[in-house]
Order: sequence, then C-alpha cells, then structure tokens
Amino acid sequence: MPESKRILHVGIDLGTTNTLCAYTDEAGLIQYLRFDSGRPDNPHFLPSAVAFANGKWVVGEPALRLRAAHPTDVFTAFKENMGSEMRHSVGTQSVTAQEAAAEILREVYRQLTRTFPQFDGFHAFVTVPARYDTDQPRIETKEALRTAGFLCDPKHALTDEPIAASIAYGTRLQGNSLILVVDFGGGTFDLSLVHTYAGSSEIGPDRFEPMSWSGDRHLGGDDVDRVLVGLMADQVIKEYNVDLRPEPDSPGYSEKEAAAAVRLRSMALSLKTQLFADGAEEAEIYADLFDDYDLDFTLSLQKYLRAVAPLTQRMRDCIEELYRKGGLSFGETQHVLVVGGMAREVSLQRLLRDLFPDDIITVPDESMYLVVRGAAIAGSNTEIHVDNKAYASVGVLIRNGKDVDVIIREGDTVQSNFRAERSYYPGDEKQWGMHYCVVSFTGDFMPGQYQTIFSTVLQLRNPTLRGLFSGRKPTKVTYGFSEDKLLTAKVELPDGSVSNLTVRL
Ligand SMILES: Nc1ncnc2c1ncn2[C@@H]1O[C@H](COP(=O)(O)OP(=O)(O)OP(=O)(O)O)[C@@H](O)[C@H]1O
Ligand SMILES: [Mg+2]
Repeated sequence: MPESKRILHVGIDLGTTNTLCAYTDEAGLIQYLRFDSGRPDNPHFLPSAVAFANGKWVVGEPALRLRAAHPTDVFTAFKENMGSEMRHSVGTQSVTAQEAAAEILREVYRQLTRTFPQFDGFHAFVTVPARYDTDQPRIETKEALRTAGFLCDPKHALTDEPIAASIAYGTRLQGNSLILVVDFGGGTFDLSLVHTYAGSSEIGPDRFEPMSWSGDRHLGGDDVDRVLVGLMADQVIKEYNVDLRPEPDSPGYSEKEAAAAVRLRSMALSLKTQLFADGAEEAEIYADLFDDYDLDFTLSLQKYLRAVAPLTQRMRDCIEELYRKGGLSFGETQHVLVVGGMAREVSLQRLLRDLFPDDIITVPDESMYLVVRGAAIAGSNTEIHVDNKAYASVGVLIRNGKDVDVIIREGDTVQSNFRAERSYYPGDEKQWGMHYCVVSFTGDFMPGQYQTIFSTVLQLRNPTLRGLFSGRKPTKVTYGFSEDKLLTAKVELPDGSVSNLTVRL
C-alpha cells in the first residue's frame, strides 16, 4: 500500500519589509523557520527583497547586500503594489509585485524543503493587510503561493494580519473581549476591532468576529524613514551641498552619491531604535558618507514628534474611522494590542495613551512574531472560526442613484453559502449599456452619501438589440459570497451575455 503523504502546515507573514514562516512542531509548540538567507542578527526574518544578478534571482539578505553597489538591481516594498499590473525593472528583468512575491515565497518553500526533507509537501496559510480593499491583491497573493509550489485550500488560505495577531494573542484572554489590534509595520498601518468569544480557558477563544477594519496602505516604517532621511539630508545639503533626498536608484546620482544615499537610509533604523527606547530624549548617529565628509546628526524627541505629526494625524483619523464604522466607542475596548516592527513608535504610543487607559495597552515582547504565529495557528486549526461580518451595508444603485437595492445589511454576519437573486429593469429604450454600481454606506441610505466599491458599464454584446432594455426583459444578477470576503455577482444581460464580477467588501 502506498504510504500517505506527509504534509506540513505552515503560516506565512508576507511582510513589506520582512517575511516570516511558522509551524507547529511535534510537541505542539509553534516554531519559527530559520532562513539561510535571513537577517544576520535574526535568521527568522527573511528580508522581503529580490534582486537579479549574474543571470539569476537572489532573495533576502543577499539581495539587500547588493543594494549599496547596485541599487537598481534590487526590488523591495513590492507588497504596496500587489494587485497592480505595474512592472518594475530589476537589473535586466522587469517584474510585477506578484512575481516578486512569488520569488520570496519560493525561497520560503526552498528553505522548508531543506529544513524538513521528510515532508512531501507544504500547505500554506498566509496573512494579508486588512486594508487590502479590492480582491485583486488577495487573489494575486494566493496565485503567488501556488507559483512557489505551496499547497493551499482556496477557501482557507488567507486571513487579515490583525486578525491573525488577535488569534495568537487570544490564548491569553479569558471570557469575551473587544480587542483593538494595531499593526504598524514597514509599509502599512492596519487596524481591526475584533470581538473574541471564549472557547475554553486553556485554548483561548475559538470564535473571532471582526467588528470593523481600517488603516492606511501607505503609512508604515518606510514613511517614517523618509521623514528621517529628509531631516538628515537637510543637514547634508547645508554642510556638504549634495542633495541625498532622491531615492538611491535616481539617475541623477554619481556612483558615490548613490552609495551615500543608501548609507543615509540605513541610518534611519538606528535613529528609530534609539528614539523608541523607553524614556529616550534624543538620538544621535555618525555616518561616513563621503571620503571627506562624515555626518554627525542629533535628533531630539520633540523635533521628531513635530516632523512626524502629519503621519500621527493620519493614524488618529484611521482609529476614529475604525470605531465610527463599527458603531463602537473607545470606552468599550477591553484590550489594545500593538504589533509590528513599529509597535514602539513614540507618536503612536502617545496617541494610544491619549485615547485609552494605560493598563489595557499591550505591546507584547514578541510583537513582530504575533501575525505569523496566528497564521500558523489558524492554518492548522479548523476549530478556529473567523466570522465574515458586513462592516457596512452594500447595495446596487438604482433609479439613477436616487435609491439603492440593498444586498447585504450593515452588521449582518455573512455566511459563506450566502446567495441572493435580483432583477433590474433599466427601462430606457435608448440605453445600450447598464451602469452597474455597487456602493457601501453606513446608517440609512442617502443619495450621494456612499462610497463606490465597484462601478462599470455592462454593455450588450450587440447594441442593435438595445430594444431589449425596454423594460420587458430584466438584467438578472445572482449574488454569492466567495472565499476571502468577496462578493460575487453573476450578471445575465437581456441579450444572454453573462459577466462574472467579484467585489471585495
Ligand atoms: N527595533 C526596532 N526599532 C525601531 N524600528 C524597528 C525595529 N525593528 C524593526 N523596525 C522597523 O519596523 C518596520 C518593519 O516592521 P515589520 O517587520 O512589522 O513590517 P512588515 O511586516 O514587513 O510590513 P507590513 O506589515 O507593513 O507589510 C521597518 O520600518 C523597520 O525599520
Ligand atoms: Mg507585518
């Protein structure tokens, strides 16, 4: 009889800056994979960097090391562009974000086969930002997993990063709780309000009900770095009259200037580490930028807070939007869980202390591991249930936008077998296309007071058949609810043509 295949379930946190992978060992403990191409100070972190050099792809730390000499050969922070067709040139190649992500995931896969030669395959569960607000980046993340060789269950392959963090933290909770999860990483500021329902005191909650989500896909450690680089560059201009503000791969640089621009950027982490330490009042760095010029830069905490004030304001706006959308107040929060590499960022810490009592805010020591830990738990544990909650009402505009046909009502829990059928009669003889517009809104519908989620003009294959739109034959739409919170709509036009649409809620 053939032996059954041995499959290892792993969780992956595909981060803007770092990628991590976790699994459950034979003793039932969560372990983190060590990467040969991981960071030298911590091999659990695989830098999310790809480079093309000497005719092949290089990934992780070796890719980052190429940066000083060949900045245009290295591609980082591609996660920001997941879901976009944009091609980025890397050395002699050009890749999309999805292809770059697949290279990173291939490296994770290679490392797993080296570490676990006894397994026949690896089943992956991966996390994505809650803030991904269209379905495309989610679909692409799953495609990248498959390209890299992973097995994955299309209905159980992804969860939101803050949800994963709350799953990992959940084992420390007793009873039912409302948790605010703040994930401040390299590229995104991601928020979820999660209601947890107790399973048992040993294993923690077994049901997670997301109440609201918010965030900013373009607000992360990288943006703080840009502010810090700007401050350092101002001093370099004053003292040495060279402008190091443009990115290192800018064509205007000489080779030495590009290398100096890279060095200046690597100083940002040291500044952050000093400033985010408890009680720090200032940070100082020395950087050897040119043969005849060293930068000696001091930054006070006050000056830092002033410089990042616009970013802090955006964080405050996101938190307020989160509670507004969820119809909840700050006072109802029982825990505030802060995770990600930027969890100790001072302006965020001050903002949270301004909004919540001190004793409910936790920055766990392992704050950079919580997301991947939750992915490993959720990926191998079918007992854990994450509800699909509608954070807003969703409907289709009718009567020229004066009214809406509601498909999902705010606050409803949407079951995966959700189905609804509708018929629309545009009724205008001259119309040869139907403006199909899906909107979301909170509270009662008011014309103009909504967010457009999706909008398209559905055209009859044969415009001469436009008489069909005369109101006698309807356009039929069947709604469903697919994997990963996608609303699917099968649209059957009066001429028999069919379009399948997916809309991320
Ligand atoms: N000890 C530290 N002190 C200050 N900042 C740090 C420290 N360690 C990491 N960072 C910063 O944290 C950021 C990376 O965080 P993290 O690894 O959580 O991001 P990510 O998961 O890759 O990104 P995202 O979740 O946004 O996709 C970087 O900006 C990095 O400079
Ligand atoms: Mg992260």
